[in-house]
Amino acid sequence: MKLLIALALVSFAVGAFSQCACPNSKWAVCDDAPCQCTLLVGANDKRVVDCTKLLPKCFLMKAQMHRARTGKDTRTIGGKPVETAFVDNDGVYDPDCEADGKFKARQCNNTEVCWCVNSAGVRRTEKGDKSLSCEELVETYWLRMQMVHKELPKTVTKADVKAGIETAMLARYKLDKSFVKDVDYDPEGRMIIVDVKKDMTDRTNDLTRVGWYMEKDVKELPQFNDQNKFEPMVAGQKLEMEKIVVYYVDEKAPEFTMKNLTGGVIAVIVVVIVAVIAGLLVLFFMRRREQQRYSKAQGREMDNM
Ligand SMILES: *[C@@H]1O[C@H](CO)[C@@H](O)[C@H](O)[C@H]1NC(C)=O
Repeated sequence: MKLLIALALVSFAVGAFSQCACPNSKWAVCDDAPCQCTLLVGANDKRVVDCTKLLPKCFLMKAQMHRARTGKDTRTIGGKPVETAFVDNDGVYDPDCEADGKFKARQCNNTEVCWCVNSAGVRRTEKGDKSLSCEELVETYWLRMQMVHKELPKTVTKADVKAGIETAMLARYKLDKSFVKDVDYDPEGRMIIVDVKKDMTDRTNDLTRVGWYMEKDVKELPQFNDQNKFEPMVAGQKLEMEKIVVYYVDEKAPEFTMKNLTGGVIAVIVVVIVAVIAGLLVLFFMRRREQQRYSKAQGREMDNM
């Protein structure tokens, strides 16, 4: 009996070790011999994924939409780096992906309404109809992640935060420290700003994957299989995040028209123009009245003569 139990345990252990798994995605399903993992992104639409890397954002977004449609669990619960940076106001849609996991430049979310996206799949033009054409997929080379951390018992310095964030991003997302260009820290606001940036010509490294995984880590649940939290160690304390905003900077400025940019700014411009015109009109009529008075006075003088 003991022998049997021991045997069972050994075979279980061996089985557990030989099992093929996908550490970088809790949604991927893997088959043994040969080990291959796939992600279900639609009904009868499985994509083979490389689980040694973070998975492509386009596949993960598509999988999330599919899971939401089929009732599976997808629980959701600074400032601009440059003027051309923008945030994702649309959220998750059902994207069209290339075979290699890149976003197609034009996205329509299975509707008649289409728009152009960057390599992070974030809309960078106004919405149009099916006739809209998007010449190329514009590369996002810079992501600014603006986070707020929960209260800490002991205060930490900017240098502590920078070191902790860099180490955590390397360990968790396999992001080389050379891509973490800047880490800024405001202890009062508990705000951490992380700039992840690559060369504009770099087409090998996909930083948008890191953005997606990090956003999920802070806002929802980890995408990783093990479900460990993202908690950088900073000066011996675990730093828990409570908010994140991601700004995207593309190689080319986005093409939003004035109307959707900022209604507030336009309103202010209109008010100023109206005020200036009103002022000019007042001046014009005042001068005309003065001139009339002057010429009348002149006329009277003439009479007297
Ligand atoms: C995409 O379509 C889904 C439903 O089909 C909708 O809930 C979502 O808001 C759409 N997203 C965008 C960005 O249009």
